Amino acid sequence: MKDDIKISGLAHQDTIHDSAIKHVTGRADYTDDLAEPHGLLHAYLGLSKCAHGRIASMDLDAVRTAPGVIGVLIASDLPGVNDVSPAGHKDDPVFAEGEVKFWGQPIFAVIAETRDQARRAAAKAEIDYEALPHALDPIAAKDAGMGYVTDPLTLRRGDAAKGLAASPHRLKGRMGIGGQDHFYLEGQIAMAVPGEDEDVVINVSTQHPSEVQHMVAHVLGVPSASVVVNVRRMGGGFGGKETQMNLFACVAAVAAKRWNRAVKIRPDRDDDMSATGKRHDFVVDYEVGYGDDGKILAVDGDWYARCGFSADLSGPVTDRALFHADNAYYYPDVRVSSHPMRTNTVSNTAFRGFGGPQGVIVAERMIEEIAYALGRDPLEIRRANLYENGQLTPYHQEVKDQILPRIFDELEASSDYAARRQAVLDWNAKGGVIRKGIALTPVKFGISFTATHFNQAGALLHVYSDGSIQLNHGGTEMGQGLNTKVAQVVAEAFQCDLSRIKITRTTTEKVPNTSATAASSGSDLNGMAALDAAEQIKARLVEFVAERWQAPRDEISFVPGHIRAGGRDIPWTEVIGAAYAARIHLSAAGFYKTPDIHWDRATGRGRPFYYFAYGAAVAEVSVDTLSGEYIIDRADVLHDVGRSLNPAIDKGQVEGAFVQGTGWLTTEELWWNEKGELKTHAPSTYKIPLASDRPRIFNVKLADWSENAERTIKRSKAVGEPPFMLGISVFEAINMAVASMADYREPARIDAPATPERVLMAVERLKR
Ligand code: MTE
Ligand code: MOS
Repeated sequence: MKDDIKISGLAHQDTIHDSAIKHVTGRADYTDDLAEPHGLLHAYLGLSKCAHGRIASMDLDAVRTAPGVIGVLIASDLPGVNDVSPAGHKDDPVFAEGEVKFWGQPIFAVIAETRDQARRAAAKAEIDYEALPHALDPIAAKDAGMGYVTDPLTLRRGDAAKGLAASPHRLKGRMGIGGQDHFYLEGQIAMAVPGEDEDVVINVSTQHPSEVQHMVAHVLGVPSASVVVNVRRMGGGFGGKETQMNLFACVAAVAAKRWNRAVKIRPDRDDDMSATGKRHDFVVDYEVGYGDDGKILAVDGDWYARCGFSADLSGPVTDRALFHADNAYYYPDVRVSSHPMRTNTVSNTAFRGFGGPQGVIVAERMIEEIAYALGRDPLEIRRANLYENGQLTPYHQEVKDQILPRIFDELEASSDYAARRQAVLDWNAKGGVIRKGIALTPVKFGISFTATHFNQAGALLHVYSDGSIQLNHGGTEMGQGLNTKVAQVVAEAFQCDLSRIKITRTTTEKVPNTSATAASSGSDLNGMAALDAAEQIKARLVEFVAERWQAPRDEISFVPGHIRAGGRDIPWTEVIGAAYAARIHLSAAGFYKTPDIHWDRATGRGRPFYYFAYGAAVAEVSVDTLSGEYIIDRADVLHDVGRSLNPAIDKGQVEGAFVQGTGWLTTEELWWNEKGELKTHAPSTYKIPLASDRPRIFNVKLADWSENAERTIKRSKAVGEPPFMLGISVFEAINMAVASMADYREPARIDAPATPERVLMAVERLKR
């Protein structure tokens, strides 16, 4: 018996990311690293220099005659439709036609022999605009009657107006919440290679290969079956490549077919930041009623979002903001509404959390308001309002898996919260220049696409006659470790070493009709689909082994590196070789759809989420009240990923999400001038967190006792987005440090992001 054989890379093991060594040695292939086909051309976009206007005249002669230029594409050159709208709204043109709706909108593309030539040529366009009125932010858009880009949503349970009227205390506020650029290290890029007939192959950095396939097919006017989309990996997506690469892929594909040469398009960082959508910024008006004990009795709120000129994913994003307006707290009477405002800015899109963070932060702001009004520690108010199992969310889903009380208890103890809060209060009481703040904030995040039909996935698994395994699934790898986790599931199923499994690029040729790798659901969905494929092959092998080695079926099992049949252990390669010779089918397509979820948007009721992921963080900061600058002295995180498929990778996700969430709320500021031009479009003006901005002490732990109550893949939980919202602890800690200037008589009420500039202004305001 081979019970002592050690194999590595099974489910639940700390396993290195399959590309980690390639990532850090520069040997991982990204789209721009692929061998370039002979005769490759390069495309570059021409962008609008007007936030809203009619194109009065467009002279592209100088572009056409510039050195190296092969040709120019404008809207009328597209063989199919001039539309790349993801959600059927038909309001996202590839190229603006007649009218431009934001500064930075693509109007044409120039194709040249080299990228440099294309880029220089694009700058030679002479376009005159007849300016039309524009509105840049959601409140200006509301005042200007710009209307919605998509249907708004209201969630209600009970009667918020009555609840507020009956509340002993009420308070009202308005909070501004900034957007965020994805700042993926690898920018948008696509390379199209023309084939015979209508065929085209596109290598592209996308979270959503199937959508690129469909968009390219529409824009070319060909069937989807003629279009192949390949993605080996992305250098980060963060939601910014869920829909935003459609346009680049279509431009490359149209040019490739038109000139019958391969075409690559890669905008520079400034154009990428100007022409592609970001996290939605919001302005939120809220009112909360509460009792003497700090318990929330009623909540009423309006979420106004800067959606940009078109719908894109603004519908589901603003819906998700409302789904998270409660965060972890029970609101007895509630009414919350979304206002997806049309603005003359780039169309905002998915970004880690998908609107959820903009809901959660308002819940936390209300808790803070109540705590300051009652002179209590916000943590006490949080505890008083946490959901109890059996209570209903504003969308009428029952909370059944509440584990935050335990997370709070453990984190409070491990971070020494009570003593440190007292130390912070004592420090601030001395009245120095440096003020400190500390906050413990939770997250409860709903897992599933709220559009129920997206919750499906496929996988394709081949076992070759030498015993090696090729794994393909519909998800895409963007650094989050999805491929590694799915491969671990397969390794576990076959009890084979991870090294036996070859993880291939994602391609629409192998798994069709996939959903975006998004909503943190990549391993939930694709892990299950891959397991389904593995189980099919295993069942065939069991049949075969039973016959060949004359063993009862119930005495056949998969043990490390072998298949055990009665008393014998037969090596995997021997079984596979024999199975091939016996003509056993060694390939399988797997499929999965999430059970038990449903959502009726019209009534605002249902169970949109299969389950919730939970977590909490304690952050402590020091703020320099003379400059507004701050550092994060310490952060402690306790996060729930159920039974982790890979604790090492999941911890990396928690750390990365926490830092990215902190960046959103501190230094990352998007700023448009009055003309509507985004002025923060490069790292020189847009500041993401650096290594030096990390918490000085950073303790990240997984709640290793947690197990998903639902039958998810190996009882794990999704991890990609939820911990992003733990960055709110840093934001609230900064607010506390500033509030100390006025002895915590009122909260600092800093709008996000709390840039040093905003912090300083709040300090000055509270000093008086
Ligand atoms: N981690 C890395 N390294 N790079 C990324 O682009 N995207 C995040 C998250 N973690 C991202 C990441 C987002 S927005 C989502 S939705 C999930 O990963 C998607 O992958 P998953 O569903 O496999 O978790
Ligand atoms: Mo993530 S915002 O769902 O791509």
